[in-house]
Amino acid sequence: MKVLVTRRILPEGMAILKKAGFDVELHDSETPMSPQKLRELARDCDGLLCMLNDPIDRHLLENSQLKVIANHAVGTDNVDLLAAEELDVVVTNTPGVLTEATADLAMALLLATARRIVEADAYLRSGHFEGWAPTMFVGASLSGKTLGIVGAGRIGQAVARRAEAFGLRVLSRGSRDGVPMAQILTESDFLSLHCPLTEKTHHLIGVDELRVMKSTAVLINTARGPVVDEEALVVALQEGGIAAAGLDVFEEEPKVHPALLAMKNVVLLPHIGSADQETRRKMSIIAAQSVVDVLEGRRPVHQVRVS
Ligand code: DGY
Repeated sequence: MKVLVTRRILPEGMAILKKAGFDVELHDSETPMSPQKLRELARDCDGLLCMLNDPIDRHLLENSQLKVIANHAVGTDNVDLLAAEELDVVVTNTPGVLTEATADLAMALLLATARRIVEADAYLRSGHFEGWAPTMFVGASLSGKTLGIVGAGRIGQAVARRAEAFGLRVLSRGSRDGVPMAQILTESDFLSLHCPLTEKTHHLIGVDELRVMKSTAVLINTARGPVVDEEALVVALQEGGIAAAGLDVFEEEPKVHPALLAMKNVVLLPHIGSADQETRRKMSIIAAQSVVDVLEGRRPVHQVRVS
């Protein structure tokens, strides 16, 4: 059995694949390979352990003998699930283990934007700090404010737990129920996104949504970039429609809108929501074990189906 691992992963995951006796080909890098190269290498493989930024499209699936796609992520918007199902390819993901890490990062972005942490750090490092002053880097308080959470799954709920400890009032909405979106948009001082990227959530936050948000509001996105219309967000930030943003994900990763790079009221991270040692170890183990389970004829623990 041949397995392609499309990026360097933590050694625990690799050990599982090797122990199973598979012929493992590793793209030993932190950068993705081109879609053409990926298709070429996947062609004679039985299993693929891939990343959220590897496009697994119908063409790749139809031109391979793959039996399993183990996505090293909870989100599977990079995989053509319908094609996989039609072609009998099992798709798996890594839910649960990255809940706390991603919720931690959403709170980190919320605190960093509210209290202007990155801006203040840069100010000090550039030698501008000449002593304490009452008007220096005055930010927004959290206690008593309202946090809107869009996407009330595991990660959204974990953020809500943290937010309550900071004295925030939480308004949340899932895909089918919860507080109406209009109320979340108009009442939130902070709005944090935790929904998967689907056709329905593409540009969920666009011109109209940004227009009704408070001018003092802060948008936090640790979900997927295309959930926000990035062009509309740039305009809202430039025109004072909202006050700030904390972004871990972007519409065309790894590209970031140049206007965002120039804004002091925006904190930008390179999609590190799940990046802590324990979480990444568990993600590598789950993904590798899923490949082994399917190729050895067992049902994997986390199979993703077309919803
Ligand atoms: C995921 O698993 O979908 C996350 O975005 C990875 O950090």
